Amino acid sequence: MIPDDLLASLQIYLKAAKVTHGGFCYQKAFGRVAVHDDPLMVMVHKRLLPIAEMMFGIPLRRSNCYTAIYGKKGVLPKHLDKPQCEFSLDVCIDDTAPETPWQLYVEGVEYILRPGEGIMYYGCKQVHWREGSPKPGQEITMAFFHFVDERFKGGLRE
Ligand SMILES: [Fe+2]
Repeated sequence: MIPDDLLASLQIYLKAAKVTHGGFCYQKAFGRVAVHDDPLMVMVHKRLLPIAEMMFGIPLRRSNCYTAIYGKKGVLPKHLDKPQCEFSLDVCIDDTAPETPWQLYVEGVEYILRPGEGIMYYGCKQVHWREGSPKPGQEITMAFFHFVDERFKGGLRE
């Protein structure tokens, strides 16, 4: 999903951004730090648009992208996404302990995402979640690239 050289650059960039608080906010409810529409991730989002259009099979618009780093208190309860996340492409950017993956479930099907791998699904229609939390010391960096039908009328960042 993400070429190795770009992936390595994103891993270094996001580690540095987290340390310098480059737009990241701590979200206690999810045990993660996260940033909306980071400029570099927006660039990646633009590159992924044609891939998402090909995979979902309709013309799309980018809505927003969200980058989150989950630690040992990370949780992701069962949920559906808001309308701005109708078409979701989740990419694992980094996992400091890939030998103990934190499984993602979409509609009850288990997926393991290694760094550089992604999954596409209908965020508003397919319930998704994770069980448990990352292991102590483990950090998992995920990028959530969201798209909408090009005819979507609502706000894109809500
Ligand atoms: Fe979601």
